[in-house]
This record gives sequence, C-alpha cells and structure tokens, in this order.
Amino acid sequence: MFLPVKSAWAIVIPLAGSIADVMIIGGGIPGLATAVECALRGAQVTLLERTQCARAASWAAAGMLAPQAEGLPPGPLLDLALRSLNLYPLWVTKLESLSGLDAGYWPCGILAPVFADHLPHQHPPSWLSAAAIQQLQPGLSPQVAAGQWFPAEGQVDNRLLSAVLLAAAQQLKVRIHEGVEVQPLRLEQGQIRRLQTTAGEFQAGCYVLAAGAWSGGLLDLPITPRKGQMLALQAPEAPALRQVLFGEQVYLVPRRDGRILVGATNEAVGFTPGNTASGIQSLLAAALKLWPSLAEQTILELWWGFRPTTPDQAPILGQSPYRNLVLATGHYRNGILLAPITAQLIADWIQGQTPEPLLSAFRWDRF
Ligand code: FAD
Ligand code: GLY
Repeated sequence: MFLPVKSAWAIVIPLAGSIADVMIIGGGIPGLATAVECALRGAQVTLLERTQCARAASWAAAGMLAPQAEGLPPGPLLDLALRSLNLYPLWVTKLESLSGLDAGYWPCGILAPVFADHLPHQHPPSWLSAAAIQQLQPGLSPQVAAGQWFPAEGQVDNRLLSAVLLAAAQQLKVRIHEGVEVQPLRLEQGQIRRLQTTAGEFQAGCYVLAAGAWSGGLLDLPITPRKGQMLALQAPEAPALRQVLFGEQVYLVPRRDGRILVGATNEAVGFTPGNTASGIQSLLAAALKLWPSLAEQTILELWWGFRPTTPDQAPILGQSPYRNLVLATGHYRNGILLAPITAQLIADWIQGQTPEPLLSAFRWDRF
C-alpha cells in the first residue's frame, strides 16, 4: 500500500475524469520517472501530458550524465547530481528488466579538453597533459593543451530511456493521457481539489507538477525557458570517438549506433521555436575546431528544446504552497541526470517519509 497519501488528501467528490492516488502533470523524463517510482511503490498513478510524452526537452537533450564536466559548483546541487549519477546503473537495470528494452546507458567517461589560449595559469595537477589527452582521444585539435578526465561520468540515450520509462509505466498500469492540457492550478481551501483540463476535470490525492519550462504557466514559479539547439552527425564508418568530449562552447556525444550529437546553444529567446543559421554555425565551428575529422560527416538531424530554468539554475523539488501539490521542475541543464534522484525523493515525500535534508536547498520559496 502506498502510504500516506494522507487520508485528508484523498478526494472523493465524484466528478468527470479519474480519481487516482498520484497525478503527474507533464510527461518528460523526470515526470515519467516519478510516475514509475510511485507505481513501483504501490500507488495508483495517472499522468497528464499536453502533447506526447518525452517529446519536449527530454527528447531534445544530449543525455550526458555530467555533474563535474558541467562544472556544477560544490554545494547541494552537485551533491544531488552525484547522488543521482550513483543511482543510475541500478535504476537503469531495474527499468530495463521491467520493460525488456535497452536504455542506452553508457558510462563512457567525459573528457573536457582546454585550448592553449584558454589554459589557466595554474591548474590542478590532476589535469591531463596534451600528450595524455591525445592518447586517450586521438584526432583532437593540436591546439588542445590540457584537460580534465571524468571517468565516472557518461551518458544515457535519453530517447531510448523515454521508451524504457513508457514501457515500464505501461507494465505498472500507470494511466497515461496524452493530448490533455492542464489549466493553471487553482487553490481551494489550501489545496488542489481538481485539475481543469482540456479533457474535463481530473482528481487525485496528490499532484506532482513536472511540466518543465511551462511550469510557470500553471503556478506562480520563476521558471523560464533557455533554448538549446543541437544536431546529429553520422560517421561514414564506426566513429573513432571513444567518450563524450565536453569542450568550450560545444560538446560531442558519440552514440553506440554511430551518431555523434553536437550540442548545444543556450539562448534566452523565450519559446521561439526552430533552428537558426547562426546557432548551427556556431556549434559546427566549435565542433570542427575541437575534432577536425568531423568535417566529412553527414548531417542527420537538427533540433531544439527548452530547458526549464530557475534564477539560481537549480531545480525546484518537494514542497509547494499547496499542501497536496509536490514540485519536480526547473531541472535546467541536468534533468536527465537528475531523473532517478528526483523520482526517489518525490516518491519519498509523497509517502510522508522524513524529508531528505538536501531537499531544503531546492524549496520553491527560496527565491
Ligand atoms: P520536458 O522534458 O520539457 O517535459 C515537460 C512536459 O510537460 C512536456 O512534455 C510538456 O508537453 C508537458 N506540459 C507542459 N505544460 C503542460 C500542461 N499544461 N499540461 C500537461 N502537460 C504539460 N539534461 C541532462 O541531464 N543531460 C544533458 O546532456 C542534457 N542536454 C540537454 C540539451 C538540450 C539541447 C536541452 C534543451 C536540454 C538538455 N538537458 C540535459 C536538460 C533536460 O533535457 C531537461 O532538464 C529535462 O528534460 C527537463 O525535463 P522536464 O520533464 O521537466 O521537461
Ligand atoms: N546539459 C547539456 C545542455 O543542457 O546543453
């Protein structure tokens, strides 16, 4: 039994739509992961998704699991990210066995090369020399003078992971309603009594807001979109890239199927859709500078997505102003990395377990 969706929260007024223990708003990877985790713990879960699950930022992402390569400063966010990275292997194994599908998890390591003209005067002795870097990854630009190597980091194929989560959710009888848009949340006597949607009213004991960059349209939260453009290249033969390269202004992520993802811009342009000539030009220029042998590769695909961003670039997790609403949003550049820890901490919170002390750094009212 999933306890406690506190009995005071159990809403039983019969209205059109369904009554569920837990209702998730938004079907990105953090929302799906939370749905699966709650269902695994015995909750009856419903997920409402405006378009199609995992087609927004969670589809656009590169899937890097890169807390240190991303340069997260020491503190609660890095702690959270490292905890999530540690959860990844077992979490993926569990989901793969539930779904029978491969999530493309690959702890291939991340190399962060630095060009000579950007080398700090003093850098830690743990940094690799140019020679050591060239040995680790032949073919890099001769301008690479040093760099960092993060062997414990890597990647997951976020599009495969989405399929795994959807199949696991199906196995666990999570009710997924796609094409259902939730309207701005309304407070009734300190709680949410029902969701108004384009498909009528829905009710649950507890609601989880996981609507990514659009969360601020549902509740007064300081979440804004940061657009990221990306592209994928196809090597004519098996790519010689052996790990993720996290460069300056660009990263390269080799997938096992031979694609190389090139990302990403970071633009404050609201929800303006589309790839732009200057965005793609800047990515290709930085990618070719770092790894010149990409020049002959075929461009397979261009895309973009909107990262859900908060003023301090850390997520908003746990408690909300409404007593039966839990927040799981604002994951910015690391929502794929943070999915397992988000799912775990949000399910713990809903179950009424003693709140994880780390969550206090991610409260909604810190701004
Ligand atoms: P989304 O995936 O955008 O999902 C939100 C969902 O909510 C959408 O499906 C939307 O339709 C739905 N929704 C919105 N409003 C409503 C409503 N009113 N009713 C119902 N449903 C609604 N992270 C990493 O960890 N590693 C990476 O390498 C990485 N690379 C990235 C590269 C790019 C180019 C981008 C854009 C992001 C990247 N990220 C990466 C960040 C990561 O993608 C996000 O942090 C994460 O996907 C956010 O997940 P989410 O579910 O909050 O948002
Ligand atoms: N984490 C990579 C990105 O957001 O572009």
